[in-house]
Amino acid sequence: MSVHIGAKKGEIAETILLPGDPLRAKWIAETFFDDPKCFNEVRGMLGYTGTYQGKRVSTMGTGMGVPSISIYANELITEYGVKNLIRVGSAGSYQKDVEIRDVVLAMAASSNSGVNELRFGGANFAPTASFNLFIKATEAARAKNIPIKAGNVLSSDIFYEDDKEAYKKWSKFGVLCVEMEAAGLYTVAAKHNVNALAILTISDSLVTGEHTTSKERETTFKSMIEIALELA
Ligand code: ADE
Repeated sequence: MSVHIGAKKGEIAETILLPGDPLRAKWIAETFFDDPKCFNEVRGMLGYTGTYQGKRVSTMGTGMGVPSISIYANELITEYGVKNLIRVGSAGSYQKDVEIRDVVLAMAASSNSGVNELRFGGANFAPTASFNLFIKATEAARAKNIPIKAGNVLSSDIFYEDDKEAYKKWSKFGVLCVEMEAAGLYTVAAKHNVNALAILTISDSLVTGEHTTSKERETTFKSMIEIALELA
């Protein structure tokens, strides 16, 4: 096992789907995988490996925020040889034309997290998606008739903003939506020369104040997982 993951070597597939919520990982495994086997229960961060259309694939929760996903991504890559890390999560819209239930591919992830400022001594690193995974995801979405939007997202360290207007600066610069992990994932993947992509479903809108219901979140989550599983 590694420091935070209880799996034995070889128990995790080269491609892994990473929701923030470990119970989502359980749901993905039980809904989409054949023969799912649980490989991690440490800290309740459930992880499973199974097959999808004959291809070996894993899923595991990451927790919330850049530090949490960075720890898991680091161990998955360096201790278990994972090569394709696909975040599947929710996001809040920053644009009028990015509507709730839309699926967004994060081409790049801006951030207010201090992690990369520390890492690069005050300079800016631009965390970006893997080109190959991005192209494959756009092709899978087209084949399944799932409309997508793509662009820059914000990985924020703050869910409950003091300043309710703070999003407008990012919005003005074309940032599509806010979530909390993609910048961490893309940076760790870049460091280890492996592939990463964040596929997001819009669950709420900072612009209109709308929210999806939990039932709607389940349905829209399915479209996103269907795209992600084609990358295995
Ligand atoms: N994930 C879903 N909605 C979000 C929001 N409004 N802020 C940060 N992360 C989110």
